Amino acid sequence: PYWVSYAEIVKLAQGVPIEVKTTIATDFKMTAEQLEAAITPKTKMLWFSSPCNPSGSIYSKEELRALADVLQKYPDIYVVSDEIYEHINFVGGHVSMAGFEDMFNRTITVNGVSKAFAMTGWRIGFIGAPDWIARACNKMQGQVTSGANCIAQRAVITAMEADPSKIRFMVDEFKARRDLILSLMNDLPGFNTNTPEGAFYVFPDISSFFGKTLKGTPINNATDFSMYLLEEALVATVTGEAFGNPNCIRISYAASQDQIIEAISRIKAAIS
Ligand SMILES: Cc1ncc(COP(=O)(O)O)c(C=O)c1O
Repeated sequence: PYWVSYAEIVKLAQGVPIEVKTTIATDFKMTAEQLEAAITPKTKMLWFSSPCNPSGSIYSKEELRALADVLQKYPDIYVVSDEIYEHINFVGGHVSMAGFEDMFNRTITVNGVSKAFAMTGWRIGFIGAPDWIARACNKMQGQVTSGANCIAQRAVITAMEADPSKIRFMVDEFKARRDLILSLMNDLPGFNTNTPEGAFYVFPDISSFFGKTLKGTPINNATDFSMYLLEEALVATVTGEAFGNPNCIRISYAASQDQIIEAISRIKAAIS
């Protein structure tokens, strides 16, 4: 599963997105073998996020290295490494694809202040990329949005220059919420969830409900289930279909612990 924009951006550029299907068994992470099997003579780029929205999975250094080793055989393939959840990591240090010397010149690292700095509305993102790519992006963005407003840019300097310890309390709180929601979800029959290591989402497989009827509503897919939770429990989730996995729904835990407790209890009542 992947962030919803990737496939659409590829289509906008008249490319053909090829999804590497992963499963909960590998924490929704792609293996080197899966990557290699998905590469065709037309492959131009690999896109992924780590930590991942929606699964919360994080590639370890060894796992990223294994993907980089595959790419060594395909020197014309570039990588878009979306690291916007870099700081929201519950398992330790962040690893960047561009941190490998042999990947540095062909990796476009995407980041922004929306997540760790809770500055979503300020609309500032940034990339680290080979100079010619950065210049081309600048040319394109100059025609599309005309540029990032300078008030937001000034505010972002403060975020960027601050010591990462300043946002530690937020990361600790997200971890507490993750632990809370996972423990509450243990009590939800039919929900099968991996343990997210970062970001602020859980991505349970709810396919055990397909073909069943809940309080008179037939559930045939993840969208039916997500809409049912909205209407019956008044809890908003997102269908996994939006993220390339039709068996799952995404629940955000960027909400207070009280709201999380209330939401899971309403879901429990709706599926009982
Ligand atoms: C993985 C990932 N990349 C990029 C974005 C875009 O973030 P923004 O447009 O707020 O910078 C999001 C937002 O949810 C995301 O989850």
